[in-house]
Amino acid sequence: MEIKINGETEVYGIIGYPVKHSKSPQFQTSAFFYAGINAVYVPFQVRPEDLKKAVDGIRALSIKGFNVTVPHKEEVLKYLDELSEEVRYIGACNTVANLDGYLKGYNTDADGFIQGLKELLPSFSDKRFLIIGAGGASRAVIYGLIKEGVQTIFIANRTVKKAEKIVEDFSSLHRLVGEILHPVPMDSIEKLLGSIDVIVNTTSVGLKNEDRPLFDYSKIKPEHIVVDIIYKKTPLLQEAEKKGCLWQDGLPMLLYQGAKAFEIWTGKKPPVEVMRRALLQQ
Ligand code: ATR
Repeated sequence: MEIKINGETEVYGIIGYPVKHSKSPQFQTSAFFYAGINAVYVPFQVRPEDLKKAVDGIRALSIKGFNVTVPHKEEVLKYLDELSEEVRYIGACNTVANLDGYLKGYNTDADGFIQGLKELLPSFSDKRFLIIGAGGASRAVIYGLIKEGVQTIFIANRTVKKAEKIVEDFSSLHRLVGEILHPVPMDSIEKLLGSIDVIVNTTSVGLKNEDRPLFDYSKIKPEHIVVDIIYKKTPLLQEAEKKGCLWQDGLPMLLYQGAKAFEIWTGKKPPVEVMRRALLQQ
């Protein structure tokens, strides 16, 4: 089959700064092509000071939908017409649908994390979680876990106040939030390990091999399930693998956040395996 681009081709894209490392153009375009949708998905480099102009431009050019990445995920909220429930709780948006100039923001990272985790652990509502980090990614993960009925979540962050802010912001999401979420300092991680099942790193620590470890990874036990949302085998994951733990990197989350965006934009079931293959080929 040959890709046809003509006067009816719809345009989707991603805005970020930088954006050149994004894997989304390849795997979203593969999905459109496979589903027989006449659309392309391209990267748009947008400087922080140009964000408003870029969003106005998206409306003017009738770009049908777009993803949002660093550093615009929070800032973009003020330029949208409507925010979905998860965006309001998480405070960050990674997917926007354009309905004749009316822009609705979604956050598919929460769903992406949950669908990815289900590949590793089909059922996890009875597990006790430790989430490391309290930024936008952490909020998406925690939102997803609470929605799935998880009842114990420790949030360890360098700045404990940010973890406490999550508890405050999520208080109306579930009446038991105060009993589910437990903010803790980083130096309490090692003594907590005996009372948790799943460790999730949502910080950028591990992206560079020389990063100082988040805690003493030699304390990880074979029973622990370890997830890093970074899309590579970080030192944390290397140790988990060495110990024989169940572990997962950031690929499933990346894949399913994109699959959910595809579904929001097209109303069609996403071709997940086609998208996975396109991601793995990069
Ligand atoms: P994202 O949107 O990817 O979550 P973010 O909102 O900037 O990014 O959040 C980054 C998270 O990584 C924060 O929890 C941050 O901790 P602080 O809140 O204390 O800043 C955490 N983080 C980044 N570098 C870190 C480091 N070297 N050690 C520990 N935590 C780190």
